[in-house]
Amino acid sequence: MIQQIPPQTNHSQLATLLHQQAQAADGISFADFMAQALYHPQYGYYMTPRDRIGKAGDFYTSSSVNALFGRLIARQLAQMAELLSSETFQIVEQGAGEGHLALDILDALAEESPELYARLTYTLIEVSQDNRQRQAKSLAAHADKISWNDENDWSITSGCFLSNELVDAFPVHVVEKHSGVLKEVFVTSQDDTFVEEVRAPRGSRLTEYFAWLGYSPIEGNRAEANVSAPDWMRHVGQCIERGFVLTIDYGYPTKELYAPHRRAGTLMCYHRHQADDNPYDRVGEKDMTAHVDFTALQKAGSEAGLETLSFSEQYRFLLGLGFFEELVRLEAAATDEKEARALRLTLKNLIMPEGGMGETFKVLVQGKNVGTPELLCSREIGAIPFG
Ligand SMILES: C[S@@+](CC[C@H](N)C(=O)[O-])C[C@H]1O[C@@H](n2cnc3c(N)ncnc32)[C@H](O)[C@@H]1O
Repeated sequence: MIQQIPPQTNHSQLATLLHQQAQAADGISFADFMAQALYHPQYGYYMTPRDRIGKAGDFYTSSSVNALFGRLIARQLAQMAELLSSETFQIVEQGAGEGHLALDILDALAEESPELYARLTYTLIEVSQDNRQRQAKSLAAHADKISWNDENDWSITSGCFLSNELVDAFPVHVVEKHSGVLKEVFVTSQDDTFVEEVRAPRGSRLTEYFAWLGYSPIEGNRAEANVSAPDWMRHVGQCIERGFVLTIDYGYPTKELYAPHRRAGTLMCYHRHQADDNPYDRVGEKDMTAHVDFTALQKAGSEAGLETLSFSEQYRFLLGLGFFEELVRLEAAATDEKEARALRLTLKNLIMPEGGMGETFKVLVQGKNVGTPELLCSREIGAIPFG
């Protein structure tokens, strides 16, 4: 079945290469197409030097909105360190982008918990050389605390592994179900145009994935399958002896992710702060993402000894960590009402459900060999002091 062809403007070497690959292989899976578009070593969106995050880039992340996000996460990390009470506290962050979150966490800990700052290490895991360079630049003031490791070469004896908007950037398979049979979207090349074809999946990985998940896609709907996410989560669990995993991303539990009304799935592209759903246009110049299945992450985590300690919307997580208390403090420090108002408007983005990052963004906290502690981030709203 050949799908409708969306308009495409592609003059890049990456597009040429993808056309050649699609022709040679008689079509490549959408996951392979996305993997190359984002991570081709020379031409991929994340691998070439460009501004991706913030005003001059393509999208904002919570950590690029305001330092308060990292400051509140630092509070949660400080409590985790207290719970673990070990000699050193290892923080490992994967997919740190330009290093905003790491910087805000390290600044906050240096200021508010100097004893913890003195005994911590901060390891960054990053596929993009360009981002590694940006991280080194942002984190110059903490150079003696940070180091970089490869994805398959890190471990935590006692500490916390964290990521913000990493899993949504993993390449996804795109599936549809027709007459009760699972099909997959392949990308072919016809007259220099990328064309989608819905075919039987190659191999059994997708069928096995949905059987493991215990879910069957809805007839006629399009959906994504992030099959590398559970593998990644199991790997993270295996690399931790004792500690926590904090995963922040946009997404839903399985049932909600694949709800009947989500007829076209959740795949989105971002270019210069414009969102669109055409991954075949400006290949290599746009970010591509899909919402994360948090049920899959919890299930895979539990297979690797990670117990879910908290799963909530980002607004609840931030409120638990003292968002309003900090807002009042920052407002009091503002030089005038105009500055205080601007601050309120900026910070609102972190907790607003509509058009903000408060609700679609979720925070999953898992623990391995840590028992079931009461975490600050999961405090009941009634138990939180408001200013
Ligand atoms: C959307 S950005 C994350 C932004 C950042 N965490 C923030 O808060 O601003 C995705 C990041 O994950 C990185 N990345 C993607 N896949 C990765 C992998 N398998 N291992 C390490 N980093 C990865 C990308 O290069 C990029 O730095």
